Amino acid sequence: MSSKKELIISKIRDGVVIDHIPAGRALVVLRLLGISGREGFRVALVMNVESRKLGTKDIVKIEGRELTKDELNLVALVAPTATVNIIRDYDVISKFKVVVPEVIEGLIKCKNPRCITNQQREPIRSRFRVVSRDPLKIVCEYCGTIHELNDIEKSLGVS
Ligand code: CTP
Ligand code: ZN
Repeated sequence: MSSKKELIISKIRDGVVIDHIPAGRALVVLRLLGISGREGFRVALVMNVESRKLGTKDIVKIEGRELTKDELNLVALVAPTATVNIIRDYDVISKFKVVVPEVIEGLIKCKNPRCITNQQREPIRSRFRVVSRDPLKIVCEYCGTIHELNDIEKSLGVS
């Protein structure tokens, strides 16, 4: 269903396609997955293309990098509508909607400077638990500080 208005990006052979990302959030998704572009594998990124479901959307295609379901589910923190497609030999072999994990470990820095996870001496790996999915609210398990989407974006260095 290729129309003339469509922006063409080629199909990938093996890898992951993250589709239905809210428009403008593709870069945040890459940041969250720890992909800078300097790693060497191929990444295709499309922003603000038409979508029947969302109006407009972003798409990220990653080739040559293995990503686990747990890693991919973290995408839900910044792109709750995203669908993940695993591609093998040009076929979509699995498709799932991302779900915010109950516990988020190590990814986000607690915004409370006095939190034990921010101590210089013996830093502890951060650990957050979901308290609300819509709107997104996660709580630091160590100090109880609530973090919202903008806090998560700040921590990822994208706002
Ligand atoms: N895709 C790709 N390379 C492939 C196969 C699929 O880049 N070898 C991309 C498609 O361009 C699309 C996404 O992966 O963006 C999902 O593919 P598919 O399930 O075939 O598309 P739809 O049916 O439109 O997906 P959905 O129902 O999730 O909207
Ligand atoms: Zn904390």
